[in-house]
Amino acid sequence: MAHKIFLSAAIASATASVSLASSNCTASSFNDVEAFGTKILNISANTVSEYGGLPNNEVCQVTISLTHPGAGDVVKNYYALPLSWNERFQGIGGGGFAAGDLQDLPGQAALGYACGATDAGHNTTADFPSSASDWALRAPGVVNQELLLNFARRSLHDMTVMGKAVTETFYGKSIQNSYWSGCSTGGRQGLTFAQYHPEDYDGILAAAPAIQWNDFLPAELWPYVIQNVEGYTVSACEFEIALNAAIHACDGLDGVHDGVISALAICNFKASSIAGKLHRCTLNNETVEFSRTAAKIIDMIWEGPITGQGERLWFGLTRGTNFSGLAPEAKDGAEGPQPFEITASWTKSFLAKNASYDLANLDYDNYPNVRTESKLQYDSIIGTASPDLRRFRDDGGKMITWHGLADQLIFPQGSIYYYNRVKDIIPDVQGFYRQFYAPGVGHCRGGLGPIPVDPLLTLRAWVENGTAPETLPAASVYELNGDVSAVVDGGIARRQNLCAYPEVSEYKGTGDPASANSYRCKLDTRGWLEFPTLDQYGNIKNQ
Ligand SMILES: *[C@@H]1O[C@H](CO)[C@@H](O)[C@H](O)[C@H]1NC(C)=O
Ligand SMILES: *[C@@H]1O[C@H](CO)[C@@H](O)[C@H](O)[C@H]1NC(C)=O
Ligand SMILES: *[C@@H]1O[C@H](CO)[C@@H](O)[C@H](O)[C@H]1NC(C)=O
Ligand SMILES: *[C@@H]1O[C@H](CO)[C@@H](O)[C@H](O)[C@H]1NC(C)=O
Ligand SMILES: *[C@@H]1O[C@H](CO)[C@@H](O)[C@H](O)[C@H]1NC(C)=O
Ligand SMILES: *[C@@H]1O[C@H](CO)[C@@H](O)[C@H](O)[C@H]1NC(C)=O
Ligand SMILES: *[C@@H]1O[C@H](CO)[C@@H](O)[C@H](O)[C@H]1NC(C)=O
Repeated sequence: MAHKIFLSAAIASATASVSLASSNCTASSFNDVEAFGTKILNISANTVSEYGGLPNNEVCQVTISLTHPGAGDVVKNYYALPLSWNERFQGIGGGGFAAGDLQDLPGQAALGYACGATDAGHNTTADFPSSASDWALRAPGVVNQELLLNFARRSLHDMTVMGKAVTETFYGKSIQNSYWSGCSTGGRQGLTFAQYHPEDYDGILAAAPAIQWNDFLPAELWPYVIQNVEGYTVSACEFEIALNAAIHACDGLDGVHDGVISALAICNFKASSIAGKLHRCTLNNETVEFSRTAAKIIDMIWEGPITGQGERLWFGLTRGTNFSGLAPEAKDGAEGPQPFEITASWTKSFLAKNASYDLANLDYDNYPNVRTESKLQYDSIIGTASPDLRRFRDDGGKMITWHGLADQLIFPQGSIYYYNRVKDIIPDVQGFYRQFYAPGVGHCRGGLGPIPVDPLLTLRAWVENGTAPETLPAASVYELNGDVSAVVDGGIARRQNLCAYPEVSEYKGTGDPASANSYRCKLDTRGWLEFPTLDQYGNIKNQ
């Protein structure tokens, strides 16, 4: 794909034979860099020899501060230009309310990528960017729409346009290919490019994407609302008992007992079926009674948010997924049920527009308004749910999404729904966009199931060599620099090739269940991943 938008004067005038000398790493080299709608405030450039503390990781580090005239913002874009360059540019996505994971830059630079990330004009130095309270409101009742737009998409595009210019200026050479890589918020950002700026990247890796933002974020609040309204805090042991019982009931539905549920959509286990009985809690080896109230609440969490009129607002947690994300344990002296911090922050700052709003005000009657208001006010800004990817396809872009089926924060059913809507518009969606579902894998990482090993490499093979991925190699440790045969978290050490949806990976019936060779890809004719679709109100159709 040609980089249509950007071709700066700096490149045009660059000499043919270019030294990658770090003497090029001066702020004034980048004076011609620009992005439409921005005003650059400051550029700094300096050479770092062990960037990120990694040996032999010599980079030119460039930081650009900019504002959008009239917006009152100050955005910082961070770039790392390795002296040993692979001629690729990589934009790096964020997580939670962070627009870019700055700590990912050194590792990618060490692999040879010129890479960049943005702070979108708000603080990304916090360890876990789970709250937007320090930037969301200009004043009580007044949302900072400019910073929200930056976070949603504006700063990502600016970072990319400037990043390409910085890169080509520094090396005096054209970028061969550009890639976006992100998970969660970074996954949503990837879809933002495909939807809004299809020319920005040749390849997009959009894992566990936080798309349908105004649907899934309100749904993340549901476990808190139920517990609060029912006046009951489900104990860690009760959650553990339900989780294990669901896995026990449904693990084998796919023909292999491996501790994870692959045939999710046909797993209808009900917590109420084990209620009122004594069960052993694996957390402390004690025998506890699993209460009927806990069972009711857990069944409602699995079912997903529902109104008094029986309208199902979004998907629920998949069975086999732990509850630690959306029903976290109380800490710091707090008592009672706790909400997941990101959805709590969204609701307080962007909907109540009151940083001290008390979520305990939410009951079964007014809770549905969280989603209604969220969609009305913010779908056009951050919904990221448009399935019309024709421009991205026409530009020759390629995209891969993978999503854990035990994602404890973002419901994978939403990604499946999205993909099928893209397919409605572009029947040959597989020609440019493929998805892979990872049984037993959590949000971006973690869990007992096999996790994609190097999906960016798979994407590159597709973009650069035309090798469309039939499968995504996965292994049950996240970082493969260690011992793959290690037993992780009590799960079995294994490899599996994840299949391109709508195919699923099926055990052949013989062979070592830990070996990838014991599985084949098959069309999902038994509905393992066939979740309900949505009606004209965006609610889940009852089946
Ligand atoms: C620009 O950045 C340089 C290097 O970080 C810094 O020393 C200088 O104070 C900055 N200037 C302005 C106007 O922010
Ligand atoms: C950013 O967050 C860190 C960690 O929470 C904090 O120490 C720092 O003061 C914050 N910076 C700004 C400018 O708000
Ligand atoms: C990089 O520096 C070298 C000299 O060190 C120079 O010849 C080359 O033109 C510079 N490249 C750019 C893009 O300025
Ligand atoms: C529970 O019992 C098992 C087997 O007896 C033991 O391995 C494990 O350490 C115990 N766990 C706890 C938390 O006591
Ligand atoms: C903000 O929320 C707090 C806690 O719920 C409440 O006491 C206060 O009245 C709210 N402010 C406004 C302006 O609604
Ligand atoms: C919950 O699941 C995630 C993903 O599988 C995992 O990373 C995390 O450690 C689990 N938490 C607990 C408390 O089991
Ligand atoms: C593309 O194909 C060439 C030749 O087979 C190979 O060397 C290279 O590694 C491939 N690139 C990717 C990204 O797979």
